[in-house]
Formats: sequence, structure tokens, C-alpha cells
Amino acid sequence: MNMDKKLRDAMNDQVIAEHQASLIYSQLAYDLDAQSFTGLSTWMAAQADEERVHAKKLADHLLARGEKVELGTVEVPPLHADSPVAAFRAALGHEQKVSEMIRNLARVADEVHDFDSRALINWFLNEQIEEEATVSEIVDQLVLVGDNGSGLLRIDAELGSERTPAPGPQ
Ligand code: FEO
Repeated sequence: MNMDKKLRDAMNDQVIAEHQASLIYSQLAYDLDAQSFTGLSTWMAAQADEERVHAKKLADHLLARGEKVELGTVEVPPLHADSPVAAFRAALGHEQKVSEMIRNLARVADEVHDFDSRALINWFLNEQIEEEATVSEIVDQLVLVGDNGSGLLRIDAELGSERTPAPGPQ
């Protein structure tokens, strides 16, 4: 079933927002690597990969419904991630923005009575709860350790071990 144009546009915007999230996480990964927090950098880089999977899920739905995907220009806002806590706060801010966009997508789908996209949008609503909670918990832990070097290195080691570094060039 083809989609209402309003829903199609909102979903295409979401594809762009997920690619933007991926670039934001990549930038944060580079910033943290530059500060020698290699574990936190690995965590952010893995998150960047996950965001590309999110974009593909939405793009695949549009394509399966006979719609096109238009990426246009994907911009990365200034992030000022000069410490781990600043980096994770920037990530949390973007996740909150994405959550609001997903809620809007659900509103539009309801408005145009699009039942076919409901399962996908519900998956994203649940995913956002999880992502916000995870990032918020990391922010809380980083605030708790403050400038304590051994505390920061422990969090760096723990988060780095949760994620596998992306494979390098073959
Ligand atoms: Fe796909 Fe982290 O939002």
C-alpha cells in the first residue's frame, strides 16, 4: 500500500535523522579517541553503526511500500565534546530529539490511519526508551566520578569491553 505524502515525508526525515545520529556518534567517537578514552570511543563508534542500521530499517520500509528515499544533505551540528560527560550529554540531547521525532512519526501515522507502519514505529518507540535510558545512565556515572582519573578509566574500560571495535580496512 502506498503511503500518504505527509507520512512518507516524516519517515524520510527520520531516515535523515538516523544518518545524522550516526555522524554525531562518529564525531563523538573521534573526539573521545583524541582525549585517549579509547573504550568510550569504541562505544560511540558501535553506536554510530547501530544508527545506520536504524536508518536502513526505515529506508527499507519506504522502499517496500513503493516510495523513494532522499537523503539530501546530512549535517552534523557543533558538539563541543571536550570531556566524556560533555560527549555523552551531547549524545543524550540528540537521542531526546530523535525520540520526539519518532513520537511525531507515530502521530502522523495515526492521523493518516497507516496501520502498515505501526509495528515498525512501535519498535522505534521502544528502542528510544532503551537508548535514552542507557545514555542517561552513563551520564549519571560520569557525573558521579567527576574528574577522578581511576573512575573515568574504569568506565572507559567497562564500556569499551561491551562493544566490539569496527573492523579496519581489509
Ligand atoms: Fe536511532 Fe539512537 O536513535
